[in-house]
Amino acid sequence: MNTSNRVLVIRSIDKVTEFLTGIRRTGATIGFVPTMGALHEGHLSIIRQAREETDFVAVSIFVNPVQFNNKKDLEKYPRNLDLDLALLTLTRCDLVFIPDEQEMYPDNKHLKEQLDFDGLDQVLEGKYRPGHFFGVVAVLRKLFSIIQPTHAYFGQKDYQQFLVVKRLIQAEAFSIQLVMHPIIRETDGLAMSSRNALLTPEMRQKAPMIYQILQILRDKAGNTEVKEMKMWVRKCFIGLPRIKLEYVAIVDAETLKPIRNWSDSKRPMVCIAAYFGKVRLIDNVFLFS
Ligand code: PAF
Repeated sequence: MNTSNRVLVIRSIDKVTEFLTGIRRTGATIGFVPTMGALHEGHLSIIRQAREETDFVAVSIFVNPVQFNNKKDLEKYPRNLDLDLALLTLTRCDLVFIPDEQEMYPDNKHLKEQLDFDGLDQVLEGKYRPGHFFGVVAVLRKLFSIIQPTHAYFGQKDYQQFLVVKRLIQAEAFSIQLVMHPIIRETDGLAMSSRNALLTPEMRQKAPMIYQILQILRDKAGNTEVKEMKMWVRKCFIGLPRIKLEYVAIVDAETLKPIRNWSDSKRPMVCIAAYFGKVRLIDNVFLFS
């Protein structure tokens, strides 16, 4: 739908609301891709899917302070707005909404409401990054209400986030079709992430080991005991200087509950979080697929 050369940038809620009301009146479908900027091919691939499936594509860029449990992590989160805008123009994104903190959180009222996610937000990332999903839900609830998209796109890399967003959409009866985009990887297998830019050259070289491990687990799944697989992963990380496994979890992909035996889940998946130097990386694969 974008006929001009440059992506349309809107920073205020009033203006974006007014603009999108006009778009909605035409009966157009709106595909929404929320981001925190520092865009890479993983984001662009999601945007291209939205471009193919919907009439109007809106992206948001907002480094949401509320979802960072670690102040340093927030400070060093990569930011590159000029490059982001150039990339959004290239992918023919129609609109980018770039609110600031004052625009998004003028009072902290909306932050007080907490939804019950049945424990889904307390495990894995939720356990190691307390408050993370509270912040994700707070910002997405607001962004969904402002953009009112027909479709919202999320990457599989943050699979737990995808499940939490699914619950949010159900709980708040948002009329949004949720779409998951597969993980986009570098040629050496490293899952694309804005955080990869923060890796030292040495750690960047080591980081693909996560996906190498995940692939071996995918091959072993069903034939090797669940417990044994997890022990093997822990061993892979022992003695590696400045590399630390935070968790390896083999869980049911619907509930994220850990499984003990392969018969416990029809759709198991393995999730890993690890530090490479100071950079925390996550990745996952579905097993039996
Ligand atoms: O996945 C992300 O980049 C963020 O968690 C999101 C969905 C943009 C919310 O801030």
